[in-house]
Amino acid sequence: MSCPEQIPTGPLGTATRRIDGRAKVTGHARYPSDEPLHNAAYAHLVTSRIARGHIARFHLEEARNLAGVLDILTFENVGQQAKPPKMMTGGGTTTTLQDNRIWHDGQIIAVVVANSFEIAREAAGRIRVDYDEESPSPTFDSPGVEAHIREAGEHKDYDVGDVDAALARAEVVVDEWYETPTQHHNAIELFTTTCAWDNGQLTIWEPSQFVYGLRGNVAQQIGVAPEQIRVISKFIGGAFGSKGGATARTAWIAIAARRINRPVKLVATRGQGFTIATYRAETRHHLQLAATKDGILDAVRHEGWEVTSRPSNYNVSGNETTARMYASPSVKTKVNVVHADRNTPGFMRAPPETPYMFPLECAMDELAHRIGCDPIELRRRNEPERDPVTGLPFSSRHLMRCFDEASERFGWAKRDAKPRSMADGDWLVGWGCASAAYPANIAATAARVMLRPNGQARVEIAAHDIGTGAYTVAAIIAADKLGLDVGDVQVDLGDTRLPPASLAAGSSHTATISHAIGKACDELSERIIRAATTTNSGMFAGADPRALRLQQGRLVGPGGASEQLSDALKRLSPGALEAYAENIPTGLKPEALAQLYSGQPPMSRGHSRQDVTAYAFGAQFVEVRVHRRTCEIRVPRMVGAFACGTIVNPLTAYSQFMGGMIWGLGAALEEKTEIDPVAARYVNNNIAEYLIPVNADVCKVDVLMLPEIDDDVNPLGIKGIGEIGIVGMNAAIANAVFHATGRRVRRLPIRIEDLL
Ligand code: MOS
Repeated sequence: MSCPEQIPTGPLGTATRRIDGRAKVTGHARYPSDEPLHNAAYAHLVTSRIARGHIARFHLEEARNLAGVLDILTFENVGQQAKPPKMMTGGGTTTTLQDNRIWHDGQIIAVVVANSFEIAREAAGRIRVDYDEESPSPTFDSPGVEAHIREAGEHKDYDVGDVDAALARAEVVVDEWYETPTQHHNAIELFTTTCAWDNGQLTIWEPSQFVYGLRGNVAQQIGVAPEQIRVISKFIGGAFGSKGGATARTAWIAIAARRINRPVKLVATRGQGFTIATYRAETRHHLQLAATKDGILDAVRHEGWEVTSRPSNYNVSGNETTARMYASPSVKTKVNVVHADRNTPGFMRAPPETPYMFPLECAMDELAHRIGCDPIELRRRNEPERDPVTGLPFSSRHLMRCFDEASERFGWAKRDAKPRSMADGDWLVGWGCASAAYPANIAATAARVMLRPNGQARVEIAAHDIGTGAYTVAAIIAADKLGLDVGDVQVDLGDTRLPPASLAAGSSHTATISHAIGKACDELSERIIRAATTTNSGMFAGADPRALRLQQGRLVGPGGASEQLSDALKRLSPGALEAYAENIPTGLKPEALAQLYSGQPPMSRGHSRQDVTAYAFGAQFVEVRVHRRTCEIRVPRMVGAFACGTIVNPLTAYSQFMGGMIWGLGAALEEKTEIDPVAARYVNNNIAEYLIPVNADVCKVDVLMLPEIDDDVNPLGIKGIGEIGIVGMNAAIANAVFHATGRRVRRLPIRIEDLL
């Protein structure tokens, strides 16, 4: 397949600094909990000290008697006023104040409201609770967990060909078990909610990846119309999936504000964030590959186990991706859901792919080693012509080109394949690689674009900039379409008063918002051109409209004749010109927009389309150094090459790829939420003991963005880039550790003690 080049002719594809960068670094950016409100009160959450059982009795007197305490909410006094939040992915959720049931350690059981944060916190500490305690089941293999095969639902399993026969007759079989740990997002910004009522209208300031979703969800929970709620989320200090769905706290702060008739502000503590929000649950995998001695795959079987809470069936089912990575005549997948006494998990950067690609890409490396084949060559031999499970064509697939470019940049040709063969003094050197893939998703969304008489534009869309650069992407698209400088475009996001954008997740947001904004801009430009060509006078009268375009703040026609955009606008309006547009991508029904307005996020997913299979691909390479004596593991360099369609802003895209790779380093070597096996409690629920990479852990990160034009994925050819950067890292590092040491570690994170 060829891979034609994307050559920017305007703002689209040109590296552009964040338009909100100055506001952020100077402190002018107002995050939701920064909202200054007159007469605000402060909330503090009281959370359960047990993981399973019931509340027998609250002792609230001591807390109530503290001067400055305004209210204490428990299920006994507000339990009838709210329903639990609906999970976006089905099943109930645990974190609720509706009754006395305790589902997990750290569940919200009461909310104290006081005149200051300090008083609220002090009062919360004075509340005593009697529990009827039962013994909890924290994770896999604990007595009392309940496992079942995932029911049909959002995700699919595949059963193609005869995997058992292929495994029985295979010349080479890889048959291994792998594990990934519990992880928490730990965004810098904590989980906050601020609520204020005014005349029956509720305003919620909360960091959110989906303001319309939060509005619809809270409306249902507290029994008001969505129109009575406004959600504002202008800046978000990191989310990574954790601010995608509604959680219990919002409704309770809304009720608290209504009860005391004052605005109420909650900033949950870092530790509370581990249990009142979502996280990535631990997974287990059984991976089997059958192949010829030349490495031609005959079977891929991937069975996964995922932990979730008691009432929720949340699962990520990443075998939808692993099933279509390589050509194989037989593929079988299955997912088991394991219910434990835990809070409900949720999205975390590349939710399905990060845990599921780890076993597949390690197993491919094991197969390559077993048959003495280079791991890149092994993937080349199994590169599919079409989607191996559906038979659909790929919208575009440049996986091998990614391997070729990344391996050249990395210097892979100099690798001695023998484990422990490369050393530098006391350091064993290992080189490893892995594939990355992520579905190209796009959602239904609306946008409004206004052109002012002075030729400046304003984009209005309830999209979300979770640190990814969405403000800048919105400005780039409008500037590109309207022939303006990026600096002449103002962008307003994160407010349910604006046209709805779907949730900023699934690496879909750039594709999603670009198409809606682009449509609104196209409509404006068509109107301007039509007005210029259908008038009886002026330099464009009677001209072919197809020969006119907006460029550099001017309307430009045949032969280079041009006029100021502001003059062209005057033909249509003495004031501003405005266009509202809705975009419903291929594969979604017309009612998608109505669903979006009500808070559902209809999304066309790259792995579930009927016409093509649409994925972004990448190849990731790492060097690790393992100290001969101490077994300390360092990662001096990483290279990633990605083919992700049109890159709207190479500068912020680079940050996304690089950030994903650095996170992958942390996931492979550092990150793990430890669970007390008796109390079913997260032990390192703080940012001191929850390890993430620091500057000293990260050396050289090379990102190659391969030019790729994909006309089938969507009109603008945009694939997502927010998540793919993390996907191959777990396996690339594990494979490099094997190459350095000869030790296969199939359980993450890989630690010194695994190598001693
Ligand atoms: Mo992202 S983890 O898909 O919100």
